Amino acid sequence: MALPPPSTDGTVLITGASSGLGREFARQLAARGYGVTLVARREARLRALADELAAEHGVRAEPLPCDLIDEQARAALPARVAELGLRVDMLVSNAGFATGGPFHETDLGREIEQIRILCETQVVLTGLFYPDMVRRRSGTVIIVASTAGFQPLPNSAGYGAAKAHAVSFAEAVHTEARRHGVTVSCLCPGPVRTELFEKNDHPVERLPSPLWLDEPDVVRAGIDGAERGKRVVVPGALIRGGAPFTRLAPRFLALPIVERIFR
Ligand SMILES: NC(=O)c1ccc[n+]([C@@H]2O[C@H](COP(=O)([O-])OP(=O)(O)OC[C@H]3O[C@@H](n4cnc5c(N)ncnc54)[C@H](OP(=O)(O)O)[C@@H]3O)[C@@H](O)[C@H]2O)c1
Repeated sequence: MALPPPSTDGTVLITGASSGLGREFARQLAARGYGVTLVARREARLRALADELAAEHGVRAEPLPCDLIDEQARAALPARVAELGLRVDMLVSNAGFATGGPFHETDLGREIEQIRILCETQVVLTGLFYPDMVRRRSGTVIIVASTAGFQPLPNSAGYGAAKAHAVSFAEAVHTEARRHGVTVSCLCPGPVRTELFEKNDHPVERLPSPLWLDEPDVVRAGIDGAERGKRVVVPGALIRGGAPFTRLAPRFLALPIVERIFR
């Protein structure tokens, strides 16, 4: 299933575009000729990226600053996109952050915010933009989850659980969407060097370097996978090879190993 073609009145709305994977999605999609609408909180970064992409690729690129855990601000996004005279042909639901460490030491407020950005916001944004795609029988949603969602994740319990929600939600809607000419694809990266883990002492930092992937390779795999109509995309041969073990192995075998790695 191909991606919707670039058009002057269509856009790709990318959340978390001020950094990491979201910024790379914006760069690669603009290089393919797509107009992009960039959502995150740090407006100066979004504006600089929009200027860069418009100058380099001649596409429409607009910053749309928004705190996605603010319910009203989030709900106003479709109207703000419409004011720009644009239609969302693709949604890349990517914004997020990760808590880490033993759960008895966690900041509960941060845990709740994490659920709101990784679970609630993904459901709401899909709910705001996907039904129109179904009506048009055209569109693509890329939900950025993680291999963290393939099994419970001791020492990052809230993050793993939130990503499990994202994987389950994306796989289910993918299966519904196929009958409507719309692609919903779930990108599940392993560890990638972005700002995500810089902000906290996350146990994932201790994973061996051969497992780490580069942003461009991860994003290229995500776009190519969506273009091929893939339900779940796991970039990187090593991570892809290990994923069936953590995803399908009995918990009593997988969990002690995962706990040891993430301790
Ligand atoms: N890096 C990895 O190893 C890895 C692996 C698997 C999956 N992922 C997933 O990939 C996605 C992107 O992460 P990343 O690695 O690219 O991390 P990142 O560099 O820290 O980027 C996170 C992005 O999310 C945005 N964001 C966070 N809270 C927000 C809020 N309340 N409202 C609006 N935007 C918000 C941030 O923008 P502002 O701060 O400007 O708002 C930023 O643009 C996340 O869902 C993450 O879980 C990452």
